[in-house]
Amino acid sequence: MFDAELIAAFYRKETPFYYYDLALLGRTLNAAKTAAESHGFHVHYALKANFNGRVLEYIRDTGFGADCVSGNEVKKAIEMGFDPSKIVFAGVGKSDREIDYALRHDIFAFNVESVQELRVIDGLAAKLGKKANVALRINPNVDAQTHHYITTGLDENKFGISYWELGDAIEALRESDYIELIGIHFHIGSQITDLNVFKSLCIKVNEMNNWFDERGFRLQVLNVGGGLGVDYHQPDIKHVPNFQSYFEIFANFLERKPGQEVHFELGRALVSQCGSLISRILYVKNGIKKNFLILDAGMTELMRPALYQAYHKIERLSPIAAVDNEEQVHYDVVGPICESSDCFGKEVLLPRSARGDLISIRTTGAYGEVMASHYNLRDEIRYVYSDEIV
Ligand code: LLP
Repeated sequence: MFDAELIAAFYRKETPFYYYDLALLGRTLNAAKTAAESHGFHVHYALKANFNGRVLEYIRDTGFGADCVSGNEVKKAIEMGFDPSKIVFAGVGKSDREIDYALRHDIFAFNVESVQELRVIDGLAAKLGKKANVALRINPNVDAQTHHYITTGLDENKFGISYWELGDAIEALRESDYIELIGIHFHIGSQITDLNVFKSLCIKVNEMNNWFDERGFRLQVLNVGGGLGVDYHQPDIKHVPNFQSYFEIFANFLERKPGQEVHFELGRALVSQCGSLISRILYVKNGIKKNFLILDAGMTELMRPALYQAYHKIERLSPIAAVDNEEQVHYDVVGPICESSDCFGKEVLLPRSARGDLISIRTTGAYGEVMASHYNLRDEIRYVYSDEIV
């Protein structure tokens, strides 16, 4: 919810733009940090959710590490001042050049997704005369009960090493002189709202932890990935996720061996609610069956509704003090892109709106700006920070 002064400032700006509420970001990060530290847990922020400069500065200053999925993300994290000893590099298809770059910068660890990748890292580390820390990403076959596009921990998914390949992985580790196994890694999906899913994950992690222990590997790190969901329906009520309940599950259900660290890779939960996409109504089309609001933002600025049929709360920002008993109308809220999938919401109930009114699309701090594209040769995405808006 935005106050009248802020809305007036939005009206003075060129649209569309992402608005980042840095105070809310700060509160969210502190809540996560306090909850994690109470159990001695380590958090690596998943850069893929949002790599906007000021957002990253806040996260770095909170003391979190970085979870990267490309060489450019590793580079960005280093340039932004994240400590390389707190950077992990994940991803199912790391190129030789990306691995080489990360090795040269002495990152904390590679989350390795296949036996072949282990051998490639060993070879590249040998050339540099360095030892690479690796955690094996294991596919635990746990259903995250989320959208199938963002489920990653099932047998049918491309991610991680399957149970039946672990023997080969151990053989590769024993044969390699330039690799140090430091841990095991899991990530089963994103936008997980049923916390019981994480209990099932803990049970699999415990099994694997024992399996490696029995084979003489003393693992330093249990990395359980990210995935904690946010409330897209009530951004003003549930603006800070319940990190306490989330971390408590791992504290209660993971069986840590002496000295073992627990690492997390949270993205969405840390940055979603601090971002909103602010857009202007270009045209209103009143039809017989449908009314459309055509915005100046489209799937090129926010891809999630088109790609995953994701729900985001849509609000009309009133240019004047709210009037009681405003007429409410059902609108399909759409963008300007030449695709029918360019739709933010169907039959959205909003006050009767006019050309020039502003619309906010909420909970877009994660996987919003970062997934913007130039399709239709659209402009570069703009953003505005809460402490700079006039
Ligand atoms: N670690 C790994 C290995 C991941 O693949 C991901 C996300 C994360 C951590 C962070 O997950 P989070 O805490 O944000 O759930 N574009 C999609 C989400 C894709 C998530 C990909 N992996 C969306 O807009 O919903």
